Amino acid sequence: MMDWSDRHCRFFHRLMTREALLYTEMVTALAVIHGARERLLKFSDSEHPVALQLGGSDPAELADAAAIGEAFGYDEINLNVGCPSDRVQEGRFGACLMAEPELVARCIAAMQARVRVPVTVKCRIGIDEQDSEEEFQRFIDTVADAGARVFIVHARKAWLNGLSPKENREIPPLDYERVYRLKAARPELTIVINGGIEGLSECERHLEHVDGVMLGRAAYQTPYLLADVDQRLFKSTAPVLPRGEVLRQLVPYVEQHLKAGGRLNNVTRHILGLYHGRPRARAFRRHLSENAVRDGAGIGVLLQAIAIAEGAEAKAEAGVVV
Ligand SMILES: Cc1cc2nc3c(=O)[nH]c(=O)nc-3n(C[C@H](O)[C@H](O)[C@H](O)COP(=O)(O)O)c2cc1C
Repeated sequence: MMDWSDRHCRFFHRLMTREALLYTEMVTALAVIHGARERLLKFSDSEHPVALQLGGSDPAELADAAAIGEAFGYDEINLNVGCPSDRVQEGRFGACLMAEPELVARCIAAMQARVRVPVTVKCRIGIDEQDSEEEFQRFIDTVADAGARVFIVHARKAWLNGLSPKENREIPPLDYERVYRLKAARPELTIVINGGIEGLSECERHLEHVDGVMLGRAAYQTPYLLADVDQRLFKSTAPVLPRGEVLRQLVPYVEQHLKAGGRLNNVTRHILGLYHGRPRARAFRRHLSENAVRDGAGIGVLLQAIAIAEGAEAKAEAGVVV
């Protein structure tokens, strides 16, 4: 998620789930080709499996960017056909490409010709006036004919003019049934549903109809829900890591990041919601928000935050009101 998630966030999320596929935020094909590649694309081995999401609409550029992504070790290359921001529309990519299924098909074919890893698509169920079920199916059919096998569908349309990106994640109504019908019509495709899913019980219900679920805001804002993903959705028998243990495993990563010249807040900004709903969640969040942003903030700030939250957890478990 642009401006929200990054490699540090993925490292943190990976401590809680071994199985879930993690995605990068959208990176434009041109940035991958001409930009600071190491900074944009480097990630740590422990983040696997990770998909690189590209934005673009030029088949040759996307193919080059996909090949670069594959060489960096990404496990999947995903094309963004869902982002409605103006900035993105000017570049003729994102959700506005839903109006050009043949172009998307050419992009997918060009990318697939260059990489061995799967090339997947993230799209909406429609845009603007092009929002009938037939048009949606035609989009999927055209892109699937080019070889795409996996579609992640944000189950609401986007209004390209008049709504901000944030409004486009909230105002157009969710239509999960349309995504279920797509799966029923094209059972050979892998269909992943996205949009407004807040917890794992909801995920389980969706999985009765489709092959996968993608969580965006809920995973970011209440990340500890990821700790149950492996057991509940992938039938893993590995023990669920307590929050404190997640943080203790994060400490060496943060120390290394600081040693390499990084800032504490680069990592800790992603963990603010870890104790959501637990005793002292607010104190944990406040301690980090106030102190981790300071110049020279060191590992001690994180250790204190752990002590604040975990001291309270221990007391809560012992029945002491805090
Ligand atoms: C801050 C923010 C940035 C986002 N950036 C991207 C992005 O880079 N690529 C993408 O496919 N979707 C992006 N999205 C959309 C989410 O992936 C997701 O489709 C949407 O939020 C609906 O799912 P949710 O209700 O689970 O959050 C972003 C969402 C937010 C809130």
